[in-house]
Amino acid sequence: MPNEAIATLVAGIADRGHAVAQATLPITIIDDLRGRALKLDGAGAMTRGRVGRGAARSEHAEMRGDRLAWLADQPHDAAEAAAFALFEDLRGACNRTLTLGLFEFESHYAVYPPGASYARHRDRFRDDDARVLSCVLYLNDGWRSGDGGALRLHLDDGATLDVAPVGGTLVAFLSGAFDHEVLPARRTRISLAGWFRRRAP
Ligand code: OGA
Ligand code: MN
Repeated sequence: MPNEAIATLVAGIADRGHAVAQATLPITIIDDLRGRALKLDGAGAMTRGRVGRGAARSEHAEMRGDRLAWLADQPHDAAEAAAFALFEDLRGACNRTLTLGLFEFESHYAVYPPGASYARHRDRFRDDDARVLSCVLYLNDGWRSGDGGALRLHLDDGATLDVAPVGGTLVAFLSGAFDHEVLPARRTRISLAGWFRRRAP
């Protein structure tokens, strides 16, 4: 139920700066998105995730073990169009209710092979505050708690919040506010991660 999911996300972002909604898209759409990610990966069209910026940007598999493929501005298929529509609904609701000024959207599929992780980091760089809201839509089928692979958010009070990458779950959080990490999983972990940016000043 996209409308309920959007309301849940906006309320959580307003209250705490982070929110999780489940079952945000029909399973058939999640299946198609996962299929697209796996097809890109199988075709060798994904690149290794990198850490750092500019000249310091490099591959560090021990810090970041995913492979990724950026989505184009125009959706590749109906499933991507449905995902874009969901993110566009979220953008509109955030801008109306929270005046976040979300403008551009960039997103990539990510495939974490078994054992891969992403060390604690923040999505906003010290010298670039354009990323405002981080979103991750999970694309996994039949994820069990013992499979690992949680997204761990580090909250202000030192507490942590773990989000299981269950297909259809969407997590959103203020990019500048939370350190987070991806814990290793026992099986391949697939997601669509996106960031809303504000308009360049
Ligand atoms: C990222 C990230 C979290 C996740 O790609 O920057 O933190 O749960 N992803 O996949
Ligand atoms: Mn991140």
